[in-house]
Amino acid sequence: MYEIAVIPGDGIGKEVMEATLHVLEALDIDFNYKFADAGDKYAEKTGIALPQDTIDIVKESQACLFGAAGETAADVIVKMRQELDLYVNLRPVKSYPGTSSLFDNLDFVIVRENTEGLYIGLEEKTEEGATALRVITKKASERISRFAFEYAKKTGRKKITAVHKANVLKKTDGLFKEVFYQVARDYPEMELDDRYVDATAMFFITKPEMFDVIVTTNLFGDILSDEGAGLVGGLGLIPSANIGEKQGLFEPVHGSAPGHAGKGTANPSAMILSAMLMLDYLEEFDNARKLENALVEVLNEGKIVTADLGGNSSTMEMAREVRRKLESQ
Ligand code: NAI
Ligand code: MG
Repeated sequence: MYEIAVIPGDGIGKEVMEATLHVLEALDIDFNYKFADAGDKYAEKTGIALPQDTIDIVKESQACLFGAAGETAADVIVKMRQELDLYVNLRPVKSYPGTSSLFDNLDFVIVRENTEGLYIGLEEKTEEGATALRVITKKASERISRFAFEYAKKTGRKKITAVHKANVLKKTDGLFKEVFYQVARDYPEMELDDRYVDATAMFFITKPEMFDVIVTTNLFGDILSDEGAGLVGGLGLIPSANIGEKQGLFEPVHGSAPGHAGKGTANPSAMILSAMLMLDYLEEFDNARKLENALVEVLNEGKIVTADLGGNSSTMEMAREVRRKLESQ
């Protein structure tokens, strides 16, 4: 039995969450869901976007499924990352059939450091203009590298590429690269590589098959994740994981998409794939693959899919079809 916090949030967050929970019911796993509030609608009623109750529920759970928030997204998701010290942001770049992916056989993962780098928010106005501080610590570099290696080991991946700009940022990225190679000594079976971030951005387009697991700092990871999303299709398809020492929080990359909200036209795939990442995190690998395969069948057939995938089915119709595939596996 897994204790799972469920935060549907706003707009299509609620709809893709309902669809995903419907699909998960077909798996032979017991989840005890604890529903929790956060987002714009909750803030309208109470003045608070992320109540302490919700943080407590997530802390007491093994994992959290999060739909999307609207305008309060930063207050909800950024706060949750800090409160729970979710230091890993994990984004798969995987091409699925029946989508607008630019390549057919992509399958790599970006592991982005989520707590420091240029995003610590230490900016300052100066006489000449402004400065921002970029902080790289041994501790954060070590734990993000170790996470990447452990993740690779658990999920059967073979190669890790550290992405940095150590030729220019000699001290900060020099440290990141050095720590990466120190951690690598504990994983002699792993193939190692390191690349400059600018070249990596180019190789995403020209030779993306060279990547397996990428580990990188906060800003570079943010940019490369979105480039990766662009390689494999629209927002309706891209999941993400935020992982800390004690919890994991799994969410689609998309927001509350007000234009789709209430119409049943949102693609549930990104949320379903976020649940798949949760299953991997819980080491339910067989169930994760079953869920993924069921979705792939539906995408491949391309018949009962939402409008962004070229179909005319609703969110729940597509979810029911994924569930049928799961039940007939
Ligand atoms: P968005 O991701 O909600 O939508 C961007 C575009 O992608 C829209 O054209 C939308 O129709 C399409 N889209 C997104 N998800 C889709 C799905 N599942 N199926 C089909 N089409 C989909 O981003 P936008 O419009 O910039 O922001 C809308 C609201 O969401 C804002 O209030 C923003 O603050 C919030 N937001 C929340 C996030 C979070 O909770 N993590 C992340 C991004 C935005
Ligand atoms: Mg981003």
